[in-house]
Amino acid sequence: MNESDTRILLCTLAASLFARGFSVGSAGNISVRLPDGYLMTPTNSSLGRLDPTGLSKLDMAFRHVGGDKPSKEVFMHRAFYRARPDAGAVVHLHSTHATAVSCLPDADPVNPIPPLTPYFVMRIGRRLPVIPYFRPGDPDMEPAILTAAQDASAVLLANHGPVVSGGTLTGAVYAAEELEEAARLFLLLRGQSPRVLTGSQVADLTTERG
Ligand code: 13P
Repeated sequence: MNESDTRILLCTLAASLFARGFSVGSAGNISVRLPDGYLMTPTNSSLGRLDPTGLSKLDMAFRHVGGDKPSKEVFMHRAFYRARPDAGAVVHLHSTHATAVSCLPDADPVNPIPPLTPYFVMRIGRRLPVIPYFRPGDPDMEPAILTAAQDASAVLLANHGPVVSGGTLTGAVYAAEELEEAARLFLLLRGQSPRVLTGSQVADLTTERG
């Protein structure tokens, strides 16, 4: 896909997330890897009203080289691209249920959402580390994410929200949606004793079929 089509796809997917309430106001940011750098949503922009020509362009070293001023969370995205060479896109949302889980003090710090459904496991994997609270835009978050993302495709920022990577832009958005739905199911079932997928079912879902 060329850069022009990627710009349009990013704005279309972002508008769809916004329209369905996955982000509100100017919350959230999205980036995608290009052959010569990265596209990123501008700071203080609404995911519902992005202009393909106004997206921030960053070079391979994450320097701003075109478009509007990039998200203040550039470093959060950079941490994922550096930790995960296979990451083609990164989506950060303040989606309600995933953010609610990020506020639970008793949440498991490595996997706060149990494997309730196959698509959660297939899109997010076995681990969803919780990163301690940092103020939005605090660059000290970068080393924490860099370490956690070595063996996790997504993290939950405590009292803030999810950051999800994917091989492609569409894949990263699907994974962010799946995480939000899994968090919603988990909260719906809290206080009950739901059946969760077994270890061998999870292993089966995370193993490539030959
Ligand atoms: P930006 O508007 O700078 O992208 O920040 C939004 C956000 O989601 C902060 O966590």
